[in-house]
Formats: sequence, C-alpha cells, structure tokens
Amino acid sequence: MEAFAPGRVNLIGDHTDYTGGLVMPMAINMGTTVVGTRADNSEVRLRSAESEGEAVVPLNAGDPNAVEPPWARYVAGVVAVVNPAHGFSGRVSTTLPIGAGLSSSAALELAVALALGFAGSPLELAQACQRAEQVAGGVPCGIMDQLASAAGVEDHALLIDCGALTVTPVRMPDEAEVVVVNSGEARRLVDSAYAERRRSCEAAQAEIGPLARADTSAVGRITDPVVRARARHVVTENERVRAFAAALRARDLAECGALMAASHESLRTDFEVSTPRLDQLAAELNATAGVFGARLTGAGFGGCIVALTQPEALQVGWRVRAVSGARVVENTESHRRRGKRSA
Ligand code: GLA
Repeated sequence: MEAFAPGRVNLIGDHTDYTGGLVMPMAINMGTTVVGTRADNSEVRLRSAESEGEAVVPLNAGDPNAVEPPWARYVAGVVAVVNPAHGFSGRVSTTLPIGAGLSSSAALELAVALALGFAGSPLELAQACQRAEQVAGGVPCGIMDQLASAAGVEDHALLIDCGALTVTPVRMPDEAEVVVVNSGEARRLVDSAYAERRRSCEAAQAEIGPLARADTSAVGRITDPVVRARARHVVTENERVRAFAAALRARDLAECGALMAASHESLRTDFEVSTPRLDQLAAELNATAGVFGARLTGAGFGGCIVALTQPEALQVGWRVRAVSGARVVENTESHRRRGKRSA
C-alpha cells in the first residue's frame, strides 16, 4: 500500500476557517508518502525517513497526545479516529519542511489514514483528519489544512467556504508563480496563542453573531478593544478572500497582490500573529520587482511567507505548483486479493 498526501500553502484567508469563513489555499507539489503493508496484529508501526524514533501505536491506544515521539501523536490521532480493523507496518517520508506552516502534520494524517484503508469522500477524509489533529496536538484547528490536502486540484487554487464546506477550484493563471519563503523562525507559542485567538473570535460571535455574516459596522459595536480588533481582521479577511477569488478569475494579479499585502497587515496589526522577522521578509518581498504581493501564510508566529510573482521574479524560496489531492498511489492489498481470485 502506498498513499500520498500533499502539503498546502494558503494564498489568502488566515484565521477565518474556524468561524466558518473563507480561505483560498492550494495543495502543493511537496508532500508525505506512507508505504507499507497491512499486518495481522493490532498495532500500527511506522518509521520516518526524516524524524527520529518509531511510531508504535496499539489499535486501542489511550490518549494520542501522550504518545512518544511527538510526531507519532499524529499517527495515534489517525488510528483513534479511523479505527482500522488491522495493524499496519511501514515507513513514512516527506518532501515538506516539518513544522514550517505548510501543513506537514495534515499531510502525515491524510497519508496515514489512506494507508490504513480510510474510504470516504475527500471532505470526510478531511473531517476525520481534522479530528485526528485536534486529539493529537490538543490544538482546536479548523478544517482548512486537511481539506486543502484532500481536495487539491491540479493548477487550481481552492476557494473554500468553511461554513458551507464547499470547495470551488479557481484556475491559477499561467503568468503567475507562487513562491514560498521559509523564515526559518521556529513557530513558538503557536499552540497556546492559536487557542487564545480562537477564544477571542468566539467571544466576538457571542456578542454580534457569526463573524462569517458580520460586517464592519457590527464589529464596531464590540466592547472589548482586543476582541474587536480580532473580529475586524476576520470580517475584512473574508472580504479580501472574496475579492482575491474575483481578481484571480479576472487575472488581475496586481489586485491579488495588493490584497495579499493587506492581509499581512491585518494579521500583523489586528490579529497580532506576525513576528518582526515575518514582517521584514514580507516587506522586502512586497518591495521586490516582479512580486505582486506577499504575506505570512498559515497560523503565523514564524513559518513561511507566500508570494505571488511574475515568472522567475525571485531567486529565493520554493516555487510551488498546485497539485491534486491526497490519494492511494498503489494498493497492493487489493492487487493481491484480485490475484488470488483470478488464480
Ligand atoms: C492553522 C490551522 C488552520 C487555520 C490556520 C490559520 O494552519 O490548522 O485550521 O486556522 O492555522 O488560517
């Protein structure tokens, strides 16, 4: 059995998914592969080409969050959610930088789930792996990363409505390049700060109703200034995603870039998830000839900057392409069964 799941880069729409808002990621040509065979025992055993230690997860393991080494928690989360009937033994390898904001954990979860035989729609796969991520890491993440990895479409960005759970692919213009620049800054405090930001958004919703349907005048009525700023980011970010999708369809890349720069600014000032290093990198890229726009991507507090550029405008970073979603590459189990039947 071989399963592959891509990472993702988010072009625009951060910290909007967990209030049912809009995001626009794409699945990228860097990802995670799990190769192995079903085993007639009751444990999942995986070695990693990149990370230390072995994941040894009994099918009826306890709390995934307590498993060692830490990367094995994601495997344990998937085992807890998918509840496979058989053990599995294999190895995992990835071309993604780990923990840099390109959804290496989502890619691991999806590849493991498919290798363990998860059979469901891309949305069901994403929802199962979102639960796995939540139990593994204890972080109340939204659906974006897992759904982008599950529902990727070659050469298309994905406009995702995280409330309606619909995915609308929008073709990437040939004259646009997407470049990811790793700040190299380890993401510190991201888990606790993420949960705190989410609580602020929930406080805002308790006051003015769903942020996905709120406008800036409703936001202005929020009493607490910090909660108001967080809500203002979410409401304006949803508007920017809508405008970005329209501009991308119209191939107005200058407008797309301006919206990305505005998104970074809002994440910096209203949502306060940027860092001085990310600000400096984004500013440098936004001032570079041939760059339409650049912003931090993902949860923030370190990680990567994404830039939309003219072809070959940048000599730094990874040039990424939009690819199709997570898939079983080879199913030797069913080959073997078919082989047996025809023998
Ligand atoms: C992380 C989470 C996502 C999303 C982003 C911010 O990547 O896993 O669900 O909330 O942060 O947009």
